[in-house]
Order: sequence, then structure tokens, then C-alpha cells
Amino acid sequence: MKTRNTFIGSLFAAALAALLVASCASTPAEKPQGLRLSAITDQDAAPAILDYAGKTPGEQERIARNYEQQPPLIPHKVEGMKLDFKTNKCLQCHDRPFYKEEGAPKIGDSHYKSREGKELDKISMARYNCNQCHVPQVNAPPLVANVFKSAKE
Ligand code: HEC
Ligand code: HEC
Repeated sequence: MKTRNTFIGSLFAAALAALLVASCASTPAEKPQGLRLSAITDQDAAPAILDYAGKTPGEQERIARNYEQQPPLIPHKVEGMKLDFKTNKCLQCHDRPFYKEEGAPKIGDSHYKSREGKELDKISMARYNCNQCHVPQVNAPPLVANVFKSAKE
């Protein structure tokens, strides 16, 4: 009886020691960093400000698309281009009445159709928030290597 008790006792002690080691190994204050590039527990953990790649619209090469129906990537910088309920700076260059004068690629015809496929006079509100689909580029090292190959390759 006595030997069994010590056996259980030492098992318990070993489990306790393992738990202690495990809790010391991961200090949450240092570990998780993610996209914000600073510890979550930092007092002023503001997201890192990254530089947008690209210059003034009109000076950029368009970025090749990798698959059909891909929303083209934005090749120019987007700083200061307001996009809210009242103002949509993107439309002022890309919308039908302005694109020629601005020398900008015209918004896709698909953007002037309702969800049911009906032609509209103006851009569909479902397409109003351009940045939901079209993304600008930043000068940043990729967090995860991209191994995507287009179908042609
Ligand atoms: C001052 C005019 C202007 C403004 C404002 C503007 N663009 Fe552009 N955009 C252009 C021009 C010109 C190009 C052609 C590439 C170049 O020369 O920069 C272009 C290219 C693009 C392309 C690539 C199209 C393709 O087929 O490759 C996308 C997508 C785009 N812009 C989206 C946007 C979005 C979204 C906004 C608002 C955040 C915006 N643009 C604001 C002028 C503008
Ligand atoms: C719901 C996703 C979505 C939204 C929102 C959206 N687009 Fe697009 N856009 C696309 C896709 C997908 C394409 C490529 C296929 C096509 O033309 O429909 C495209 C194509 C384009 C093109 C290239 C057209 C061509 O002739 O090749 C331009 C320019 C463009 N969009 C500008 C804009 C602007 C400016 C806005 C905001 C006012 C906007 N888009 C909002 C998905 C979107």
C-alpha cells in the first residue's frame, strides 16, 4: 500500500512540474505579433504604417492579371484618395463621364449592372467600395511566401 501511494505522489509531482514548465515557456507579452508587427499587449499598439508602392496615377504600368475575373490590382498610390459615403475619389477618374479626360482605365461594364443583370445609369452601389476588391500595393516583405502559379504556367 505504501509503495502505491508514493507512486501516485511522484506522478502528481511530475504533472505539476510539466504544467509549470509549459506556462513559463510561452510568455504572451512577447509572442503573438501578426500583421500589426508589435506585441498585442503594447500600450500603444498602433498598426505599422507601410509605404504604398506606386506613384501618381498616369505614370504606372498596369499590373498583369493572373486569372480570369480577377479584380485588377491598383498600380498607383492611393494616399489622400477619399472614399466615404459622400466622396469617392476613385470615381472622379475611373467613372464613365471622366475616364477619357483623365486617361484612366474605364470601370468594368459589369460595375454598371444590378445584381439581376439590369443595366444601370450609374455604377451599382454594390461596387461603390472599390477597395473591397481592388487593392493597392505596399513595399513590404511578404509574410508568407507566395507560390501561386497562373494556369498558363
Ligand atoms: C487621378 C486619377 C485617378 C484616381 C483618383 C484613381 N485612379 Fe486608378 N488609375 C488611374 C490611371 C491613369 C490608371 C492607369 C495606370 C497608371 O497610369 O497609373 C489607373 C489604374 C487603376 C487600376 C488598374 C486597372 C487595370 O486594368 O489594370 C485600378 C484597379 C484602379 N486604378 C483603381 C483605383 C481605385 C480603387 C481608386 C481609388 C482609391 C483609384 N483608382 C483612383 C487614375 C486614377
Ligand atoms: C465586388 C468587387 C468589385 C468592386 C467593389 C469594384 N470592382 Fe472593379 N473590378 C472587379 C472585377 C472582378 C474586375 C474584372 C472583371 C470585370 O471587369 O468585371 C474589375 C475591373 C475593374 C477595372 C478594369 C476594367 C477593364 O476594362 O478591364 C477597373 C478600372 C475597375 N474595376 C475599377 C473599379 C473602381 C474605380 C471601383 C469603385 C468605384 C470598383 N472597380 C469596384 C471587381 C470589383
